[in-house]
Amino acid sequence: MFRTNTCGELRITDAGTVVTLAGWVQRVRKMGGMTFVDLRDRYGITQLVFNEELNEILCTQANKLGREDVIQVKGRVNERESKNKNLPTGDVEIIVSDLKVLNASVTPPFTIEDNTDGGDDIRMKYRYLDLRRNSVRRNLELRHQMTMEVRRYLDGKGFLEIETPMLIGSTPEGARDFVVPSRMNPGQFYALPQSPQTLKQLLMVAGMDRYFQIVKCFRDEDLRADRQPEFTQIDCEMSFVEQEDVITLFEGMAKHLFRMIRGIELTEPFPRMPWSEAMRLYGSDKPDTRFGMEFVELMEVLKGTGEFSVFNDANYIGGICAKGCASYTRKQLDQLTDFVKRSQIGAKGLVYARVQEDGSVKSSVDKFYTQDVLMQLKQAMSAEIGDLILIMSGDDVMRTRKQLCELRLEMGARLGLRDKNKFSLLWVVDFPMFEWSEEEGRLMAMHHPFTHPKEEDIPLLDSDPASVRADAYDMVCNGVEVGGGSIRIHDPELQDKMFKILGFTEERAQEQFGFLMNAFKYGAPPHGGLAYGLDRWVSLFAGLDSIRDCIAFPKNNSGRDVMLDAPSFIDQKQLEELNLSLDLKE
Ligand code: AMO
Repeated sequence: MFRTNTCGELRITDAGTVVTLAGWVQRVRKMGGMTFVDLRDRYGITQLVFNEELNEILCTQANKLGREDVIQVKGRVNERESKNKNLPTGDVEIIVSDLKVLNASVTPPFTIEDNTDGGDDIRMKYRYLDLRRNSVRRNLELRHQMTMEVRRYLDGKGFLEIETPMLIGSTPEGARDFVVPSRMNPGQFYALPQSPQTLKQLLMVAGMDRYFQIVKCFRDEDLRADRQPEFTQIDCEMSFVEQEDVITLFEGMAKHLFRMIRGIELTEPFPRMPWSEAMRLYGSDKPDTRFGMEFVELMEVLKGTGEFSVFNDANYIGGICAKGCASYTRKQLDQLTDFVKRSQIGAKGLVYARVQEDGSVKSSVDKFYTQDVLMQLKQAMSAEIGDLILIMSGDDVMRTRKQLCELRLEMGARLGLRDKNKFSLLWVVDFPMFEWSEEEGRLMAMHHPFTHPKEEDIPLLDSDPASVRADAYDMVCNGVEVGGGSIRIHDPELQDKMFKILGFTEERAQEQFGFLMNAFKYGAPPHGGLAYGLDRWVSLFAGLDSIRDCIAFPKNNSGRDVMLDAPSFIDQKQLEELNLSLDLKE
């Protein structure tokens, strides 16, 4: 037996017993004739003591230990003279009688402590060392707890966990596919699933009734803090359900996770906000509702009521009221203006108005408006003395709202209103069925092409498809889309129509989704479902800024695994086997 105990286990009640421990050397400290070693494993740290007077040879050996050496020690548990209240094992130490170096380590490239000196890149390159650190390991432990709770909850509700293949055909979730060439079928490619969407629908046709899977999904899209090219979904589907059934069951799961993992009891139903309302009040389909600062539309107050041509030409003017920020200096306001002008946001400018001590309004567009109009502005914004009103305008309503959304989030952050320990959940519902794609020059499915339109909007599919709403729902927590789903089309005719509106020819629809259309001919039950983003849930619960920190081996922002150095070129021989040749442009 390598060890009798772990490094996180021993307590004062164990004093006097002889134990064997194994682990990594975190630190070696020499104090006079004594040498202290912190021995670490996944479970904790235990202090080892070597006494020169008692055993000189052993002590000399201990003095030679280096950081991250793997050792095994035998010794007696002793009550410590100076106890360490910060460690669960801090009341005891091991008086070592035997020491064996199981494996020496070269000097690690960064310190393996909570506050490491290692930068991001180096920690990613040596991720296996980074994972030895408490903070990172804890995230993986949390992830494990969460998947266990998910399985418990769904098993309790009669869901079957069923695996679906990774080598499949294209699944339209709005991103590019990662593809895998087939050696046995020259010139042909598999696509890795962007989600198991069509497969889970087939499982419903197969009568599985309630399916779930904790599953890897692959999407070749631009990466952000909450996006990885491969990520994990808690993917679910149910038969014979309506939107209300799905929402109730998965709201229950969210509450279960909050209770079991964070000890938070969420008793109220989550609010439901129509998509149009979310866009109007927050300029986002995933509003951060931890704080107010809702948009106020100001077209009536500011368009055509003064000489400011920017507003007079605008199709949208909206403002937010930042409480108590009238004291912002010129420099701070310039910073905010620069912020909205950054290329990622792309606004042309920012107008501000301060409500002064005497109740009057002082603004950056004073010369264009009478005080009377500015007082109407103050009233429309419900602004009070000391408040700062920030206004943006533009030709494109949606684009301008999105820009104002960025400003609202920035102000929320500056004012400390985006507290990571506060959770604000809601469902965004009644999404539009389609959105116009400038790039493609056609309507695209906002969720995916299998989403059911709202029953009452079906007649509009022919006359005004852009106004059709979907039986689709997203769960949003603190401005993050943590999950989304929909009721699906199970009627082959309606599905056919949908493909037509989306610009698929019959042949292409048949080619890409023939298997599903065919299956629907054999008695498809009404069905619907949802997928939660596991990485996003874990990072919310752990209070992380990026989902990368809760993934054992994540990719960097260029989609690279810097540890494995992937992607990489492959041998000519391998290319030939795959019947591929490269034609790389400079
Ligand atoms: P959707 O595309 O909304 O729906 O994905 C579901 C959830 O997965 C998470 N997510 C991501 N997480 C990390 N990195 C990514 N690149 C990424 N993309 C998505 C989000 C999102 O809410 N088949 C449908 C689900 C359904 O209709 O049942 C789907 O995949 O949290």
